[in-house]
Amino acid sequence: MKTIGVFTSGGDSPGMNACIRAVVRTAAHQGISVFGIYRGFQGMIENEILPLETKAVGNIIQYGGTILKTARSKDFLTVEGRKRAFENLTNLNIEGLICIGGDGTYTGAEVFLNEYGMPSIGVPGTIDNDLYGTDFTIGFDTAANTALDAIDRIRDTADSHNRVFFIEVMGKDSGFLSLYAGIAGGAEGILVPEILDDINDLEKHFMSDERRKKHFSIVIVAEGETEGNAFQIAERFKQKFPEFDIRVSVLGHIQRGGKPSVNDRILASALGNAAVDYLLKGERNKCVGMVNQKVVLTSFSDAISKKKTIDDGLWKLSQILSK
Ligand code: F6P
Repeated sequence: MKTIGVFTSGGDSPGMNACIRAVVRTAAHQGISVFGIYRGFQGMIENEILPLETKAVGNIIQYGGTILKTARSKDFLTVEGRKRAFENLTNLNIEGLICIGGDGTYTGAEVFLNEYGMPSIGVPGTIDNDLYGTDFTIGFDTAANTALDAIDRIRDTADSHNRVFFIEVMGKDSGFLSLYAGIAGGAEGILVPEILDDINDLEKHFMSDERRKKHFSIVIVAEGETEGNAFQIAERFKQKFPEFDIRVSVLGHIQRGGKPSVNDRILASALGNAAVDYLLKGERNKCVGMVNQKVVLTSFSDAISKKKTIDDGLWKLSQILSK
């Protein structure tokens, strides 16, 4: 292999730039040329592909977002779209791909290998931490810290006004961000899609003597919570507990941006480096991850089909510490 391509796809996450830098510099170290593919699979189809040299990835490690841009491509779901993408890559002699993103990215890469034999190694980049095959995904640590900073600020005003706040965090259909930011932010309630009874327990707690001794509450709601979004849950609590002064805050895309944390920069650097090494060694159709501080490989099909669930021990801890 003499030439490879790298791209970011799906939702951006802080640390993607650190990963692109690691891919380009590792490839250069091995005498391999790299093309940057802009806007993920969409840019592959529209031929937005440019050489990415070592100098181009200088001074980017500290930035959130992705210098390669990103997209959720509908055209890549079509046979015609994938054909055009493959032609554009072969015209530039690109023989393998490093794809940084989530399960949608891995799915596209797997289809591409099956149809055209284009080998790929995936790198887990998403704030949701919902990918099997790695303890943490690139961007999760930064997003959890961003959410935590907002929670700390809201706590000040909740305390001053004796209010109950429902704070919604991202995470798609996973509760990792809610659980981590909730425990670290000392929340009184944490709602996650993985635990079906959590809302009933919270209601019971709101009726208890323990709650009556408190003058304000912070409840973190995962956006994928099965009982509804933060506004719907707040409405339910307003009906049941009219004595409380309830407010809602949806943190939204603020969690996707900003300077990547130390952990995310190191994770992104290590995984970007490992992804190139594995691709050059002939591995394909797999993604890299970090499990117990060791780089591991997982097949795309396992990473896509197996569900990573929140840690039971951490959930129990949150229930003990929050009351
Ligand atoms: O997957 C990352 C994520 O931020 C999720 O947490 C969220 O559900 C989704 O992307 C939002 O997507 P978009 O930026 O397309 O609105």
